[in-house]
Amino acid sequence: MKRVAILISGGGSNMVALVESMTGDHPARAVLVLSNDPAAGGLARARDLGVAAAAVDHRPFGADRAAFEAELLKPVLAAAPDILCLAGFMRVLTPAFVERFRGRMLNIHPSLLPKYPGLHTHARALAAGDAEAGCTVHEVTPDLDAGPILGQARVPVLPGDTEATLAARVLAKEHRLYPAVLRRFAAGDRALVFL
Ligand code: GAR
Repeated sequence: MKRVAILISGGGSNMVALVESMTGDHPARAVLVLSNDPAAGGLARARDLGVAAAAVDHRPFGADRAAFEAELLKPVLAAAPDILCLAGFMRVLTPAFVERFRGRMLNIHPSLLPKYPGLHTHARALAAGDAEAGCTVHEVTPDLDAGPILGQARVPVLPGDTEATLAARVLAKEHRLYPAVLRRFAAGDRALVFL
């Protein structure tokens, strides 16, 4: 059975979808939910699901990402995960941290990568007049949002869409895509998932 740690920054709806998927004959189980924000709503949601949850506040470390990551690493190593899932984790990780988990760390990003890495993806898709939007699960490498793609899901952009309506439509797909990719990945299958 593979051990999965999930890193979050906010409400953690993708985290909940992942945790709830890891039952029965699934080849993995969630062992830790970790946030850089002690106020993240997802921490209580994780505990309600029976998963250990902890926070390492990034703010006392200021610009010292390495010092923050040294603290973040402690509960991660204690949980001994085989796979790390970034699920709405909004801190950029240093190359040293990423290399440590190379080939074992996934991220979900709310755009059809390679379009719109970084922030404000839905606003950028709307401003560009795109006919479709979506989300991508990819392997994490030192280059932001640029690692090998493992799965994508598409949604139409509809007339009258706002950032909020488009984000909600994409998020519903995220909740299906991320568990589908993780299930395959945990079984050693890196075939692309398209939803
Ligand atoms: C999700 O839409 C996720 O794709 C996005 O943040 C949201 C988190 O929601 N992630 C990023 O923008 C990563 N750069 P959640 O906390 O409810 O899962």
